[in-house]
Amino acid sequence: MSKSIEVQDLNVYYSDFLAVEGVSIDIEPRSVTAFIGPSGCGKSTFLRTLNRMHEVIPGGHVKGRVLIDGDDLYGPGVDPVLVRRHVGMVFQRPNPFPTMSIRENVLAGAKLNDKRMSKSDADALVEKSLQGANLWNEVKDRLDKPGGGLSGGQQQRLCIARAIAVSPDVLLMDEPCSALDPISTFAIEELIGELKSEYTIVIVTHNMQQASRVSDKTAFFNIAGTGKPGKLIEYNDTAAIFTAPTVQATEDYVSGRFG
Ligand SMILES: Nc1ncnc2c1ncn2[C@@H]1O[C@H](COP(=O)(O)OP(=O)(O)OP(=O)(O)O)[C@@H](O)[C@H]1O
Ligand SMILES: [Mg+2]
Repeated sequence: MSKSIEVQDLNVYYSDFLAVEGVSIDIEPRSVTAFIGPSGCGKSTFLRTLNRMHEVIPGGHVKGRVLIDGDDLYGPGVDPVLVRRHVGMVFQRPNPFPTMSIRENVLAGAKLNDKRMSKSDADALVEKSLQGANLWNEVKDRLDKPGGGLSGGQQQRLCIARAIAVSPDVLLMDEPCSALDPISTFAIEELIGELKSEYTIVIVTHNMQQASRVSDKTAFFNIAGTGKPGKLIEYNDTAAIFTAPTVQATEDYVSGRFG
């Protein structure tokens, strides 16, 4: 079930280093939000706070609040492992388990949730997830072959299938197409368009065309200089960010006049 994300004045730290400062943002369910901005401004760091992956890094901690449908992700007693099941993540480099079969890759996360899943339930879940990731037709005859034997674009869709197999509320994607060719990129973009009817999607991208093609809203992050914290500069409808930004830095960035 798709859920809203409400971030209130979030600071993100690596030990003493303040990497991202004072982010407040409201993200609607069933929408695609793009995070854009120059390298090092904290897009990945901030994205990882939305499913508590940031804390996996030694010294990684936050101040502020992240509410998913009103529930504080960082509230007392909240289990980060459970959070990560509800807020799935897809990374820059496709990371299937290479020797595990395609089928087992899809089931990898779901089996942690339900260890006693029947064979027929598992089969149905594999098909549904691969259909959802637009990969079913390409792999249905080789489900028992290793995930590592797929092309890069297919591997990325396999990772998306694995992420959606656990029925998350939110899907976070950190530059999911940066290692892919244009055709695979197009397939993923199409897929994002379909997935947003069921999920809240946040995607980090360096590709302006991609941001304008896939997203409803765009958040521009920037950094004042090395060692300074990244900040959210402007957040609005994607069309507005690209055609009528209100902040000069946004305009410079989206028109390629940055740096
Ligand atoms: N594991 C880490 N430990 C300490 N500092 C880190 C770590 N990861 C990132 N940083 C720092 O946090 C800041 C933000 O980095 P981050 O990777 O979030 O930027 P980004 O916007 O995703 O950049 P890119 O577009 O290059 O992916 C940078 O100054 C970076 O050096
Ligand atoms: Mg990054």
